[in-house]
Amino acid sequence: MTQNRQPAWLDNAIFYEIYPQSFMDSNADGIGDFQGIINRLDYIRELGCNALWLNPCFESPFGDAGYDVSDYYKAAPRYGTNEDLKRLFEAVHARGMHILLDLVPGHTSVEHKWFKESAKAERNAYTDRYIWTDSIWEEPTGYGSLRGISDRNGSCAVNFFSHQPALNYGYYRPDPSKKWQQSMDDEGPKATLEEMKNVMRFWLGLGCDGFRVDMAGSLVKLDEDGKGTIRLWQNVREFLDREFPDAAMVSEWGEPDKSLQGGFHMDFLLHFGPSHYNDLFRCEKPFFAGEGDASEFVKYYNASYEKSERKGLICIPSGNHDMDRLARSIHGENRKIAFAFLLSMPGAPFIYYGDEIGMRYVEGLTSVEGGYNRTGSRSPMQWDNSTNAGFSSAPREMLYIPQDEAPDRPTALAAMADGHSLYHEIRKLIQIRQTHKALMNNSEIEFVYAEKDRYPLAYLRSSGEEKLLVVLNPSSLEASFPFHGRLAEAVYCFGESAVQNDTVVTVKPCSAGFYPVR
Ligand code: NOJ
Repeated sequence: MTQNRQPAWLDNAIFYEIYPQSFMDSNADGIGDFQGIINRLDYIRELGCNALWLNPCFESPFGDAGYDVSDYYKAAPRYGTNEDLKRLFEAVHARGMHILLDLVPGHTSVEHKWFKESAKAERNAYTDRYIWTDSIWEEPTGYGSLRGISDRNGSCAVNFFSHQPALNYGYYRPDPSKKWQQSMDDEGPKATLEEMKNVMRFWLGLGCDGFRVDMAGSLVKLDEDGKGTIRLWQNVREFLDREFPDAAMVSEWGEPDKSLQGGFHMDFLLHFGPSHYNDLFRCEKPFFAGEGDASEFVKYYNASYEKSERKGLICIPSGNHDMDRLARSIHGENRKIAFAFLLSMPGAPFIYYGDEIGMRYVEGLTSVEGGYNRTGSRSPMQWDNSTNAGFSSAPREMLYIPQDEAPDRPTALAAMADGHSLYHEIRKLIQIRQTHKALMNNSEIEFVYAEKDRYPLAYLRSSGEEKLLVVLNPSSLEASFPFHGRLAEAVYCFGESAVQNDTVVTVKPCSAGFYPVR
């Protein structure tokens, strides 16, 4: 597998994920906006993040928080205009930062004009833009469908919620008995892909630096081993190499052996499926809560790492808009150890807005915009002690999602004022990552100790001559493991430093350290 030529900034990129609805409201309508983000860029830079991932910000009926696009070429008016978004790109670049937009190529909203045209009985330019069977009585297998909604005699495949019809990129091996299954090389699928390239061209031309790609592995249907979808993304990569060679591509795919072949620079570790990510953070006994198991995660990670030829480009997020807040299951000082992990692993770290101050999952909320149980992780950012925690000056009932009302809710202001806060630990960890090549995104990793139900977790990060041993012990007990190299004084230490006795390293409860190895 060839390593895709990466834009240089990706090697030390540390992302901050912004859910635009909830970050900062500058015009008192209760919902975040582009100007609000611009106003808070210095806060993000100050934390140490140098890149942004912005959740979808395009026109949408918001049945899935914007992952149901109704116009790919237009910013959602609730956030501002295309011109405002361009100003955001410029403000980001003026600070030496970069920004990825969220591209949703797999489906649109039912309100997209392509879909409305496609649903018509008469043939037109959009008839093949989506996957339709040729009889209302036949459903496409596997994905669910939209049926009986128009005069067109067919059922349309959906890709996620039932109001998100699947765009047609074709089938890897169409079933000849099902004439409606088109091949990737048919005109309809080819036109869909060309249009999606136009979308990318449009936003890259306006100044964004690349894309986080939603459900990137879902495009070509009946493509179990991903070969068709890989080919499709290689085609996109060729287009980018020709026209936007510095565009960065990060996939929500969860199979780096496939996504990297498809020309993505990095892939996400997913919180569902076989990854064991949530053994660490969100299960009955998460490893970072102090009584769990990291060994299954390490096995999975190593297997992916080997399959992708040790490229180490799996991004591990602190959380995101789809899962519970980290602070729901990891408490107190253990959060600092969890971040020592997140900020010492390969792949670009992604910090979900508010996780740096320990924002809580807001319990008991009614679903907002297709959030369901995800809604509690999407509440407005808590900046300070002013009205609505400084998020918005709108009346409280107008806020996009109700905020955490606890009197001791964390705020950015308080976190910044407290030298011992999680916020400051993260800042310190970022500075250390940025000054040690061995800790950066593309440097190697080798696990040293990750035994079933045991602590600590230990791994070596290395680049050239530099080798750092990372040792994490979130448990409340002292723990030891065998190690043969010689450890020098820690470049990062939380809690007490490890003690080395011949070939055994012993670490104190609730501690983390990065040690140069001689
Ligand atoms: C993954 C996104 O992260 C999620 O929020 C969305 O609902 C689905 N893809 C569908 O686009």
